[in-house]
Parts: sequence; structure tokens; C-alpha cells
Amino acid sequence: MVLLLVLLLCSLNSFSSAATDSVYDNFVQCFAENKVPNDQISGILYNPANPSFTSVLVSYIRNRRFNVSTTPKPTIIVTPSQESHVSATVLCAKKLGIQIKIRSGGHDYEGISYVSSVEFIILDMFNFRSIDVDMETETAWVGSGAMLGELYYRIWEKSKDHGFPGGVCPTVGVGGHLSGAGYGNMLRKHGLTVDHVIDAKLVDAKGRVLDRKAMGEDLFWAIRGGGGASFGVILAYKINLVPVPSVVTVFRIEKTMDQNATEAVYQFEQIADKIDNDLFIRVLLQPITRNKTRSVRATFIGLFLGDANRLLSVTHSDFPELGLKKADCKEMSWIYSVLFWGNFDNTTTPDVLLSRTPDSVNFLKRKSDYVKTPISKNGLESLFNKMVEIGKVGLVFNSYGGRMNEIPDSETPFPHRAGNLFKIQYSVNWEDEGEEADKNYIDQIRELYSFMAPFVSKNPREAYLNYRDLDIGTTDNGKDSYNQGKVYGVKYFKGNFDRLVKIKTVVDPDNFFRNEQSIPTLPFFVGEKSENRERRNGAARTSSPS
Ligand SMILES: Cc1cc2nc3c(=O)[nH]c(=O)nc-3n(C[C@H](O)[C@H](O)[C@H](O)COP(=O)(O)OP(=O)(O)OC[C@H]3O[C@@H](n4cnc5c(N)ncnc54)[C@H](O)[C@@H]3O)c2cc1C
Ligand SMILES: *[C@@H]1O[C@H](CO)[C@@H](O)[C@H](O)[C@H]1NC(C)=O
Ligand SMILES: *[C@@H]1O[C@H](CO)[C@@H](O)[C@H](O)[C@H]1NC(C)=O
Ligand SMILES: *[C@@H]1O[C@H](CO)[C@@H](O)[C@H](O)[C@H]1NC(C)=O
Ligand SMILES: *[C@@H]1O[C@H](CO)[C@@H](O)[C@H](O)[C@H]1NC(C)=O
Repeated sequence: MVLLLVLLLCSLNSFSSAATDSVYDNFVQCFAENKVPNDQISGILYNPANPSFTSVLVSYIRNRRFNVSTTPKPTIIVTPSQESHVSATVLCAKKLGIQIKIRSGGHDYEGISYVSSVEFIILDMFNFRSIDVDMETETAWVGSGAMLGELYYRIWEKSKDHGFPGGVCPTVGVGGHLSGAGYGNMLRKHGLTVDHVIDAKLVDAKGRVLDRKAMGEDLFWAIRGGGGASFGVILAYKINLVPVPSVVTVFRIEKTMDQNATEAVYQFEQIADKIDNDLFIRVLLQPITRNKTRSVRATFIGLFLGDANRLLSVTHSDFPELGLKKADCKEMSWIYSVLFWGNFDNTTTPDVLLSRTPDSVNFLKRKSDYVKTPISKNGLESLFNKMVEIGKVGLVFNSYGGRMNEIPDSETPFPHRAGNLFKIQYSVNWEDEGEEADKNYIDQIRELYSFMAPFVSKNPREAYLNYRDLDIGTTDNGKDSYNQGKVYGVKYFKGNFDRLVKIKTVVDPDNFFRNEQSIPTLPFFVGEKSENRERRNGAARTSSPS
């Protein structure tokens, strides 16, 4: 009996590593069948026994919460260097019934580009990072594995009069950022990144490489904000560059509650979406301890697409409560404003943007909200008191309006356009490891989020896809993905959710490209056979390599 048990345990044990090996072996064989030459296969397929497996896995983890021993690990990692490798990965993963997680810059706040609750592989796009800037047409082709900092640098190299309205963190990846409708500090002047995407290259669920013409306008619409990972593997985007003036002005002004922070934040709410489109202001609200007293500090960070004198005339007339003075204003070229917003010190030169590793990586959690009517002064005071009481959670208010008001909600999948004064990001970072710490800080951020319900958008309570938050609903990689998907889908996409579902159902009826918050397929077609429906809704649920 005992012997039998031992035997069983041993065979279970060897079964699991044999299963891993066999997935790897099956991929090798399948890659060969898909005409990937043998000498290329060994350089792009990593199984856990490979000494480089862990370093490849952790190089693009950007949330320490998912870099611990209990984090589920992929069965294999694929690091394609050619389009045919991506096609082979899709076809082989599909054939072997294994879930694929696509990673570009790895900045997903919930780590869903490299973690899963079911068996999975990572398709890591870091080799697809070429950037081809063409000043003749003022456009660029950018690989999905490129980082925003590299893109800004390559534009600046060719032209001092051009830029791109993307995010402020230089290590964010193009693949996730653009497919999720990324934005940055030129949003009020130029809208979102996706408002400037004019072509794309993607590998679809059939392994085909398609450009805009070949994929058609529906799919091209979906991958400009609907999240790439529901529709295919994005290889590259083609973008229009935007003009930037030779001199821009930045500032950072701090105010504590006893320096009338409440008044200034209240006035910010009145003008955030209405002030000159050349001005973008972000307000950080952070609980601080000063003179042993807990308080909240408001930091106003600005980018003005013009010189300091014009900025001062704008703020004097429309936002005097900010108290902006000439000495607060720093004039510089656009690329140096990128460094300022990236929190580099003022001795840094633009080549730092080519570095692919951030200085530090924290444990973190984010959430989002949209504000459509100003929060009253009393409301702000109660909020600041709540922040002090809760502990560590900060808020970031990002002004909207300007160009955002001119683009219809249905132009791209991103629906949060006119009518929003600003977007809130909830933010908490911590450095202590362990489940208890995670729970403490995640509870804190959830508490502030509940507190904010009366002040923010309702029915639905809208959320920003790129501030990934699994609290607002998930499909647990299982059945019923339509009803589950609708819960977060309408928060991220409002009225655009239905169109995304229809496109998804046409381009990926088997729901091969799926994750915790992907776009579901339609629950059924009239007259569809039930086994087809089941296959569609549960395709990559379990892996059963044959
Ligand atoms: C420090 C930091 C700063 C940030 N600042 C901003 C900001 O200023 N503005 C803003 O809008 N957002 C910002 N974000 C959020 C950021 O835009 C999103 O996390 C974005 O999705 C990251 O893209 P990525 O390629 O780095 O992420 P990944 O984790 O690689 O991917 C994110 C999602 O996209 C999918 N995906 C990635 N690559 C592909 C591909 N090639 N094809 C198909 N699907 C793909 C993944 O599967 C995943 O679902 C920030 C995030 C961090 C961590
Ligand atoms: C992840 O963990 C590994 C091994 O402990 C460590 O070397 C690496 O620096 C960590 N990466 C991040 C981003 O925390
Ligand atoms: C705060 O506002 C009051 C009343 O408007 C004003 O008298 C005071 O000078 C302000 N304090 C600061 C630090 O700006
Ligand atoms: C802290 O308190 C001391 C004594 O009460 C005071 O002199 C000082 O100005 C305070 N500092 C700040 C930053 O408020
Ligand atoms: C750079 O920053 C330092 C310290 O913050 C400051 O003293 C210095 O004047 C700044 N230099 C420039 C050129 O802005």
C-alpha cells in the first residue's frame, strides 16, 4: 500500500515534468512542421530547464507583486525574432490547446501579460522593437516591443519639431500602450496615441500576417483601444507624428492643506477641461506627515506647449489660485520635457531614454475613475481627511477636455471623451513583501475607491483599460465569458463593447486570444450547434497536449 503510494507520488512527480517537457517537445516539433528552421528554434523557445528561463521571465516584470515564488510560471517562453515565428506560435499554441499570454513592455498593472491561472506560455515581443521614422511623410513604423522612450528618442533624433502624444513613463511598451489607447501629457492638444495610428501589422488567430488593408476596418478599429490581446498579436503600428514647438514650459508646484491646497484643487476642477489646450496639468494628491501631523499635499505638474510668458498669461487669467510664478517655469525643448516628466534629474541627457530597464520596480496596485462634475470643497476636504485616515493611497487627477471633446466616443474603442473633467488614477506602491502586505495595501486602495463612489461616473462606473484592475470583473478563463466579460467590458468601453464583441466573434470565434479581461465572443449564434458554442467559450481553458 505504502509502496503503491510512493510509486504513485513519484509517477505524478515525473508526470508533471514530463508534461512540461512534452509541451516543449510538442512545440519544437510543431515549429518544425511550420517550417521554422531547427537552428532558429533553440534560440526562441525556452523551457524551465533552460538556464536563461528565469532571467527572460523576469526581465519585463514591472510589478513585484508578480515576481514571487507563488506567482504561476509559464510552461515555456517564446521570444520570436521573425514574423513567421509569431505565426508558428499562434498555430502551435492553438493546436496544443494552450493559453498564450502576449507581452511587450510588461507594464500591465495586474501582470496579465505574463501570469495566468491556467497553464500558459508567454509570447515575448521584445525582439520586435525596430523604429522607422520617416520625416518625408511625418510618420513612423514602431515595433510592438519598442518602448515609449525609444520612440521619443528616435523621433527627436530626426526632428526637433515633432513628437508623439504617448505616456510619460519611458519604459512602457508600445504593444500594450497603443492597443489599450495610451495617453500622455499632450492629450488635451492632440488626443490619444490611437488618434494618430494609421496602419498596423498583426498576426491573427489563423496565423496570418495582416496589415490594415488585409485585416479590414473593423479589426483595425478594435486594436486602437480595445486591447490587442483579444484580437491577435500586434507586430507593429504605423503612427502620424505630431508637431511640437521649439520651446515648451514645465512646472511643478506643491501645496499643502494649510497652503490652500483645497482651494487650488477646487479651482483646478473648474478649469481642467476648459483652459488653453496647450496646457496639461496633472495633480498628485499624496498623504504626507509634516511636523508630526498627517496631511495631504497637492502637487501640480504642468506641460505647456509654448513659452513661459504665454503660460503665465494663461494661468494669471484662468487659474490664479495656482499661484504660478516665472521662477516656477522651466523652458526647454520637448525632449527635455519628456525627461522632466519621467522624473530624471536635470543633468540627464536624452540617451537615457534608450535604457530598457527602469531604476526600480515596486509592489503596486492601481485603479481608475472618471469625474464629470466638480467635487465640492466640502467633498475635497472629506476626501483629504479620508486619505489621511486610510494611510498610503495617493490619487492622480489628469485633465481632460480640449481635443478629447472633439472626437466622438465611437471613433475608437476608447469611450471616455467629451464630458469628462479629469480622470483619476488611484495609486499605491509598497516595498514590503508578502501576502499580508499585499492585502493591507490592496484593502486600502479599495476602501478609497468605495469612498469615491458619490463623486465619480456612474452606470457604468467607467474605468481605463490601461489602468488594468481585475477588481472590476474578470472572466475566470472559463465558461460564461460573455456575461462575465460584459461586467468589466461596459466600464472600459461603454457603448463600444457590443461592437468589440461582434468583431471578436468574427475574427476569433474560438476565443483563442483570451485572458482575465479579454473581449468575449457572442454567447451563441442562432442555430449554432452546442458543441461549437462550447468550444468557442472554453477553447483554451485547459491544456491537453495530444
Ligand atoms: C510605470 C507605469 C507608467 C505608466 N504610465 C502610463 C501613462 O502615462 N499613460 C498611459 O496611458 N498608461 C500608462 N501606463 C499603463 C500602460 O499604458 C499599460 O500598462 C500598457 O498596457 C503597458 O503596455 P506594455 O506593452 O508595457 O504592457 P504588457 O504588460 O506587455 O501588455 C499589456 C496588455 O497588452 C497586451 N499586449 C502586449 N503586447 C501585445 C501585442 N504585441 N499584441 C497584442 N497584445 C499585446 C498584453 O497581453 C496585456 O494584456 C503606465 C504603466 C506603468 C507600469
Ligand atoms: C524578480 O526576482 C528575481 C529573483 O529573485 C530578481 O533577480 C529580480 O530583480 C526581480 N525583478 C523585479 C522586477 O523585481
Ligand atoms: C489662503 O487663502 C486665504 C483666503 O483666500 C488667504 O488669505 C491666504 O493668504 C492664502 N494662503 C496662502 C498660503 O496662499
Ligand atoms: C513645524 O513646527 C515648528 C514649531 O511649531 C514651526 O516653527 C515650523 O515652521 C513648522 N514647520 C512646518 C514645515 O510647518
Ligand atoms: C538643476 O537642479 C538643481 C537642484 O534641483 C538646481 O539647483 C539647478 O539650478 C538646476 N539646474 C538647471 C539648469 O535647471
